[in-house]
Amino acid sequence: MNYEELIKRANEAKENAYAPYSNFKVGAAVLTGTGKIYTGCNIENVSFGATNCAERTAIFKAVSDGEKAIKAVAVMSSSGEFTYPCGICRQVIAEFSEDAKIILGNSRGDIKVYSLDEILPCGFTKENSKNFE
Ligand code: THU
Repeated sequence: MNYEELIKRANEAKENAYAPYSNFKVGAAVLTGTGKIYTGCNIENVSFGATNCAERTAIFKAVSDGEKAIKAVAVMSSSGEFTYPCGICRQVIAEFSEDAKIILGNSRGDIKVYSLDEILPCGFTKENSKNFE
């Protein structure tokens, strides 16, 4: 897996962010099971709760294209600091991955890599919701 390539794509995607309320631009790049990369940015709304994070934008693009397996998610933001996925995005990543790699970059070129299990321990997953079937 090429972490640098994913970080580069996430960084490029953040330039499309629609963030007039927070001025905090975020870009994400998702690597799917078939080796494709989907990118996304945060898209805010005057009704703040309707805002969509960069990670979910990228994931929803992938899933709507038939790509339902996520291997890695890279995130870059305009803060220049490591930006961690929010709780809702962690839950959405869990829906489409076994244990995805979460790759964070900063403006100094440093990269941090986590597993989803590390940032979403004891998550509520399909495995522990068998009564839905
Ligand atoms: N945001 C993301 O897109 N991804 C993250 O990982 C953290 C937060 C967005 C949501 C909102 O548009 C802005 O950043 C400020 O919270």
